[in-house]
Amino acid sequence: MAAGIDDIAIYVPRLFVDARDFAKARGMDPDKLQRGLGVSQMAIVDTNQDPACMAANACLRLIERNKLSPKDIGRLYVATESSLDESKAMNSYVIGMLEQIYGDDSLEHCGGIECKFACVSGSYALYDNSNWIRAGESEGKYAIVVVSDIAKYDLGSSGEYTQGAGAVAMLLNDAPRIMTFDPKVTSTSIKNEYDFYRPFGKETPIVNGQYSNLLYMIQVKKALMAYREKALSTGLIKLQEGETILDYIDFINMHLPYSNMGKKALAYLLRHEWRSMPYWKKIIEKMGMVEPAPKDPRGTIESILADEEFMAKDHEFTKRFTQTEEFQDVYDAKLASSLIASRIVGNLYTASLYMGFRSCLEFEFQKGTDLEGKRFGFGSYGSGSSAMVFSGVIMPTYKEVVKDMNLESEIGDRVKISLEKYEEIHENKRGPNENLIDSKKEFVLVGVANTSEIRGQRTYVFKE
Ligand code: CAA
Repeated sequence: MAAGIDDIAIYVPRLFVDARDFAKARGMDPDKLQRGLGVSQMAIVDTNQDPACMAANACLRLIERNKLSPKDIGRLYVATESSLDESKAMNSYVIGMLEQIYGDDSLEHCGGIECKFACVSGSYALYDNSNWIRAGESEGKYAIVVVSDIAKYDLGSSGEYTQGAGAVAMLLNDAPRIMTFDPKVTSTSIKNEYDFYRPFGKETPIVNGQYSNLLYMIQVKKALMAYREKALSTGLIKLQEGETILDYIDFINMHLPYSNMGKKALAYLLRHEWRSMPYWKKIIEKMGMVEPAPKDPRGTIESILADEEFMAKDHEFTKRFTQTEEFQDVYDAKLASSLIASRIVGNLYTASLYMGFRSCLEFEFQKGTDLEGKRFGFGSYGSGSSAMVFSGVIMPTYKEVVKDMNLESEIGDRVKISLEKYEEIHENKRGPNENLIDSKKEFVLVGVANTSEIRGQRTYVFKE
């Protein structure tokens, strides 16, 4: 049985910080954010928003748009790394909010859990729910996977300019209108690492930035190599002499902690794939530079990062490579459209990859590209660390859904906030009811109990 994505709904908070204002306040060159990292605006949650209500808002949009009844939904999974409780799962909050609309117990048989593995957990949730459908356990019902996060780093840290917030809800079934996942090729890599982690009770992560960038690329490459083996052994892809697996992936979607990470990762993967190809020599000649190798090619990530001479040469090599026509062709054709949303919403952790997919569908549709039958490859990464590579093929019915996608109108009227206001929110100086903007037709947080018997209990209402 087939399984895939039938529809996608998004929720992005309307407050945002502008990268230029941010750069000015931190004494940085705005070009570093806009050109260096690809960050123009970062969505920020208001005081009465949290990852659970963003997830519920995305779900509600998905359910309303598809005129679903609660009994049509067999499973609702929430993947997040912005967990609200050590025990109570985030999907239970979402069920509670949806039942305010659909009635008490209307979703009582909609099973699910909260999934955690940094930014990759949404991909595991999609895979597990697709297998629930493939196994025939769904009995014609839908699964909803929601990815929802607030990317929040310490004030003044290098992660602070890669923040953002939002949720993406995906409707899965056995006759998907958008994309069917390729069976038996999903591949993973995993390693116990501390590139980015958030110990219990700490609101912001401890991050080793450059280490995490490199680890991301290594782990995705390893998962891609495993994907390649599976794609070849199952016969999904048949490689001819001089071809690479990426030649058979029409669109590439990467995890996007910031927009330019997609470009960085594409360059890394193409270098890996093209190195053994006959045309690589020509590309190198045009670049006028030999591909550098670290002093200790079998060294650790730490030793590679500490090898300053290699890192500087490698940086220059990557820069020249990304300027070649060969790279630019792949970048423009397969990746660029997926990066547009990330520039204006920022990092969504678990939701970044899927906001990128959504972005690619919408902006390729606007360009008039015919996506039917095209294969999308996904490079998902979660710190800590694990990567997942998988793929799917766009269905003939995709236009029915994609024609109505409109990032701007789905976000709604955005409100730019000053750095002063942003810092107040960031440092939790305002209570839930001291929100900056009014919400309509959405769930908001109205209180978090602080008396000992019910400490931590959260109350949400639907604002008409
Ligand atoms: N004009 C134009 N470009 C400039 C510039 C200027 N004035 N100054 C710097 N740049 C460029 C740099 O050349 C660099 O581009 P390249 O990578 O293409 O060379 C880019 O801007 C970034 O500069 P730095 O590498 O110096 O940036 P940094 O050290 O300040 O930090 C970061 C970047 C490591 C991503 C940091 O923001 C960070 O720690 N972020 C959080 C961790 C993270 O996102 N890691 C990503 C992988 S892990 C993951 O993906 C999981 C997750 O979601 C967190």
